[in-house]
Amino acid sequence: MKLEGNTILITGGSMGIGLALAERFVKLGNTVIICGRREDRLREAKEKVPELNAFRCDVAKEDERKRLVGFVRENFPEINMLVNNAGIQLKVDLRKGSDELAGNDEIDINLKACVYMSVEFIPLLAGKDEAAIMNVSSGLGIIPRAIYPVYSATKAGVRSFTKTLRQQLKDTPIKVFDIIPPLVHDTELHYGKMMERTDNSVSTAELVDAVVDGLREDRYDIAVGPARNWLNAASNPQLDGMFENMNR
Ligand SMILES: NC(=O)c1ccc[n+]([C@@H]2O[C@H](COP(=O)([O-])OP(=O)(O)OC[C@H]3O[C@@H](n4cnc5c(N)ncnc54)[C@H](OP(=O)(O)O)[C@@H]3O)[C@@H](O)[C@H]2O)c1
Repeated sequence: MKLEGNTILITGGSMGIGLALAERFVKLGNTVIICGRREDRLREAKEKVPELNAFRCDVAKEDERKRLVGFVRENFPEINMLVNNAGIQLKVDLRKGSDELAGNDEIDINLKACVYMSVEFIPLLAGKDEAAIMNVSSGLGIIPRAIYPVYSATKAGVRSFTKTLRQQLKDTPIKVFDIIPPLVHDTELHYGKMMERTDNSVSTAELVDAVVDGLREDRYDIAVGPARNWLNAASNPQLDGMFENMNR
């Protein structure tokens, strides 16, 4: 994938991994649009990287997604890359009953929005010489963590969806990437708090370096740091063959 001269929409680009990717893509000579729910965070992102184009949008809400699609179609019809990055992560104690799930938006934000955004943007991307959809899943989509049961399920869902999306788009110019980060310590995913570096974590800068390398090499599953070992452990040529057969 060439990484210069693209027009890229990054959901959840106002901070964390999304903003780090946005900043790098701008430095490489791309036009970047970011979205997020909070105006103040979008403003701060633009103060840090003035070249960014920001649009307030909650990707879990259908009417707001439609407004975003309209805005991009009108102002950036040359768009050729979509990064489905917006996500949240919550601890859920399944023994506490359904009250524990009240207000839980993980499925809508992490999985449903990824599916709907992809489908909305396929027509815009399909006419380009080279295009891409990048979905940010997680190592927890490979090995689920029990304290994050819904989150882990959404990320396994993103991985499965990404694989079938890639299969359906194989005869189009749209390349489909799965970005599989391990724990990234310097973001606000974990209840708004940055964490200490651990042996199993990477920084956003390290993650972005690995993503850029993976995109340039057209490596469609870009697993980073410890997530690489998890992906290798989960890889099974027999299952890959069965997938090919089933989707012939
Ligand atoms: N950090 C990690 O350890 C880690 C590991 C593996 C995978 N990931 C994945 O990486 C992605 C980015 O996470 P992060 O660590 O960078 O988290 P973060 O620092 O909390 O950033 C999340 C971004 O998503 C936006 N967002 C959340 N809900 C949204 C919605 N409904 N509509 C639009 N924007 C929304 C946030 O802005 P607003 O809140 O203002 O909307 C923010 O810009 C997520 O998909 C996450 O699951 C993270």
